[in-house]
Amino acid sequence: MSVPMSSLPGPSPVHCLAGIARHGFLGQTGRMWREHGDLFRLRLGIGSMVLAVHPDAVRDVNLTQRRAFDKRASYDGVRRYLVGDGLVASTGDLWRRQRKLLAPLFTPKGVQAYAEVMLRDGQRLAARWDGLADAGAQVDMGEEMMELTASIIVTTMFGAQADDDIVRLKRAVETMIRYATRRMGPHLPDWLPTPARRDYLEARAAVHDYINAIIDDRRGQPDPGANDLLTRLMGARDDDGSAMGASLLRDESITMFFAGHETTARTMTATWAALAANPEVAARLHEELDSVLGEREPTVDDLKRLPYTLQVVKEVLRLWPAAPFYVRDAVEPVDLLGTHLEPGTPVMLARTGRTVTPISGTIPSASIPTASPARPRRRAIRRPTIRSPPASGSASATTSRCSSRTCWWRPSVGASPHGWLPATGRPGRWRAR
Ligand code: HEM
Repeated sequence: MSVPMSSLPGPSPVHCLAGIARHGFLGQTGRMWREHGDLFRLRLGIGSMVLAVHPDAVRDVNLTQRRAFDKRASYDGVRRYLVGDGLVASTGDLWRRQRKLLAPLFTPKGVQAYAEVMLRDGQRLAARWDGLADAGAQVDMGEEMMELTASIIVTTMFGAQADDDIVRLKRAVETMIRYATRRMGPHLPDWLPTPARRDYLEARAAVHDYINAIIDDRRGQPDPGANDLLTRLMGARDDDGSAMGASLLRDESITMFFAGHETTARTMTATWAALAANPEVAARLHEELDSVLGEREPTVDDLKRLPYTLQVVKEVLRLWPAAPFYVRDAVEPVDLLGTHLEPGTPVMLARTGRTVTPISGTIPSASIPTASPARPRRRAIRRPTIRSPPASGSASATTSRCSSRTCWWRPSVGASPHGWLPATGRPGRWRAR
């Protein structure tokens, strides 16, 4: 017997918006979870959505009841302003077809082709840092990682490009992302020629022109030796032998930049911050790297010989997920964790709670297991109870603010630019067990 969505607990719109203004979207989400439990209703003044934190909801929306959910209105902004028909926003047959075409590019073997680019860019950065260290300079790790991942993604996507072009493309895509993110909250109509609108249109035209020129060039002069993602996308064939058209190639290229740039940069920034706050973990990581690699360059094959390094990255992904939530819209009447949802209801699947940095600005200690982590025990659905906040961590920022970037997946109205990295805290100390 299910209950209607209207009976779900949740804050009033005023309380919710005031909380977002004060604590950022993610901060407020954590607070609401503590107050209202694993499934609650969020009224933002521009509509209602259900926020689901429990792993069973993630399973039901993505697996057991996946036919009842899809990417619909919640993805309109991303679709219209950013990725068009790209994989992140596409649905139905188009998504299935594209997913099948693109999947081979993302297998371990498929990704191996790009290790050289990652290594070369990493080495260039290390050499630059050596120079800066000699001069006693400081670097802004957030910016450095954003530049590194932009360079890697552009090179893997389009082959070698001039440094200036990479910077221009990065800035233009970031302008598009910023505009798209702002359109997901309350906003002025598109027909108003605001400076932000003008910047967006210029950036979009620059990105489209840039990618279209590369596609035309490749079509005019195919390079049999080229192995970049765009070449591989151009060579991909559907079951009926058809290839992707230019606009879909462009949409998928933008998707890759958009999906792979900030997520990886944020994860690496969080890793640097976590290592700086946990010297004993950093020392153990270096020990492993030194003993496995010595002075030689790493290869993809080495990854399996670096279990502790992998644990560190996984722990960072667990504690500071770069994409802590995403949305699916109900497309038919459906019951989720005992609550009845009408078609059109957006469900935000969020990671919060014990496994993730608390959003109150305090950080719990976490542990890096020395053995393979045990399967997590099933967690009972938590209904609203008040729970005291976790123990405090220390309180000085070690990572820089990332300008106005916010998580793109959903409205980030007033979100902390740090997203999951609290502006007032730094990673707590890990306990090596
Ligand atoms: C730490 C790094 C990353 C994290 C945390 C992350 C997280 C996510 C999440 C949560 C989604 C689901 C989004 C949604 O449905 O709205 C997603 C989808 C996707 N990501 Fe990533 N991602 C990362 C890196 C990358 C990279 C490097 C690429 C490509 C170069 C990439 C490409 C994609 C694509 C194409 C999708 C859509 C897949 C589909 O719908 O079939 N991601 N990612």
